[in-house]
Amino acid sequence: MQDVLQRIIDESRPLVKDGQVASYIPELLKADKNNLGIYVVTKDGEFGAGDYNQVFTMQSVSKVITLLCCMIDNDNDAISKKVSFEPTNDGFNSIVTLETKNKNRPLNPLINSGAILCSSLVKGQSKSEKFERILEFAKIITGNAELKVNADVYLSEKDTGSRNRALAYFMHSTGIMEGDVEDNLDVYFRTCSIEVTCKELANIAFCLANDGTINGVELFPRSLAKSVKAIMSMCGMYNESGEMAVNVGLPSKSGVGGGILTVVPNKMGIGVFGPSLNENGSSIGGIEVLKKLSHELDLSIY
Ligand code: DON
Repeated sequence: MQDVLQRIIDESRPLVKDGQVASYIPELLKADKNNLGIYVVTKDGEFGAGDYNQVFTMQSVSKVITLLCCMIDNDNDAISKKVSFEPTNDGFNSIVTLETKNKNRPLNPLINSGAILCSSLVKGQSKSEKFERILEFAKIITGNAELKVNADVYLSEKDTGSRNRALAYFMHSTGIMEGDVEDNLDVYFRTCSIEVTCKELANIAFCLANDGTINGVELFPRSLAKSVKAIMSMCGMYNESGEMAVNVGLPSKSGVGGGILTVVPNKMGIGVFGPSLNENGSSIGGIEVLKKLSHELDLSIY
């Protein structure tokens, strides 16, 4: 496995020159476009290759964590009144369907509008209680009790978050999102700014691969793990989820920090990192690594 991962990283690295590091959150511009790494967790061992020790912020990969907390804290009916589980062919921060479709509900929890809405539904009386709930859950599922927010990225995103504010205020105006708008945004911005390495992403994916258990102990119910994997398959890569299903065939979630979390049900958790992004805001090298790995080990679930 180690040799396979190293070879795939080496073969995929030339692709990073074709993408760009995220610039709309200025602090993310500091990332090194040439980085590319992977970490794989299986029941028989763990393997890392390339820049797998590099620290980066979760960004939209964190939407999986927020969704899990939201689903643990609320019953299905309460959630489905507020957000649906439909794929999108629009970009991750699109506002258009909030007005035109779907009874003002965000199309799914893995686009920005849906994740901001889910942040508002996490249990807690205040923004700090909601964020602490998410962070504590993140520490357990990643196996890293030291997880913390990158303050510079958080402030950079908060400073430049007009698009997310537009989404949130629009959802507030239609009544679909309750609570204080700026507080809900603050929970979202902080969650996106949690620092991880590929290993933490792989651990999250491995918990989902094992239907919500860690070392045989249940963290959340199997039915919930199944729902989240289904949503990731259809929506986790935004408007390229279809291509991802065809070329990789595994539930995944990307973020503009360069991370991708990928689940191989019953087998593996995978975390990849490569901050050079394609036009959809996903890691260009990371997707290539996942394509090659899925093909070589015949991992597609389809
Ligand atoms: O809200 C934003 O724009 C970022 N914090 C997260 C967006 C993101 O990661 C999109 N994913 N590829």
